[in-house]
Amino acid sequence: GKTTLLAPSILSADFTNLKASVELAEKAGADWMHCDVMDGVFVPNITFGPFIVKAIKQCTSLVIDTHLMIIDPDKYIEDFAKAGSDQITVHLEACPHLHRTIQFIKSFGVKAGVSINPATPVSLLEPVLADLDLVLLMSVNPGFGGQKFIPASVAKIANLDAMRMEMNPDMVIAVDGGITEENAAQVVEAGADSLIAGTAFFRAADPMAAARKLKGLE
Ligand code: DX5
Ligand code: ZN
Repeated sequence: GKTTLLAPSILSADFTNLKASVELAEKAGADWMHCDVMDGVFVPNITFGPFIVKAIKQCTSLVIDTHLMIIDPDKYIEDFAKAGSDQITVHLEACPHLHRTIQFIKSFGVKAGVSINPATPVSLLEPVLADLDLVLLMSVNPGFGGQKFIPASVAKIANLDAMRMEMNPDMVIAVDGGITEENAAQVVEAGADSLIAGTAFFRAADPMAAARKLKGLE
């Protein structure tokens, strides 16, 4: 089959040397750079905005994968697109007009993703699934890196995989939260194409080796 995509989350990187962190991900064979944007309202933590995304973009040719954990994302989508995001993902739970928001993301020539929290059923994605480039399925409650993978996520990934095979086979399934070298194979087996990994990559004793294991190359 095809190789699993790996998206290290910059949240777990060494921010005193952002450029080296991004270059480490690139050298390790990462595919996307996952940028976790938190507003302290939608989730109980604050991270960074378009200014940092732009700095990351200037350090790499990797796909910039921006995960917006913010309320009213429409207000900032243009800023994150102009900062160099190649794909922008919003939360279903934060978007009362989700269809409009997806079209708005695409209007900037950026790939559109929707993320769902652990308590949100995949069936709620059905009305927009055909419009999406990716779904980011949360396997922890968003807000912090380093949390434990919620086992019920595996069945949700399998359900989403069946849905997309029928409605939008080109759509990418990314899984975010608590991914480890131990559970990566099971998550991919359930239908994930892309693994987000903060702790498991940036806090690994040997990030190069961790990347190969997470991608299923050894
Ligand atoms: C959680 C973020 C995740 C997180 C992943 O709110 O969206 O991307 O940083 O970190 P790990 O892999 O440590 O769970
Ligand atoms: Zn994330």
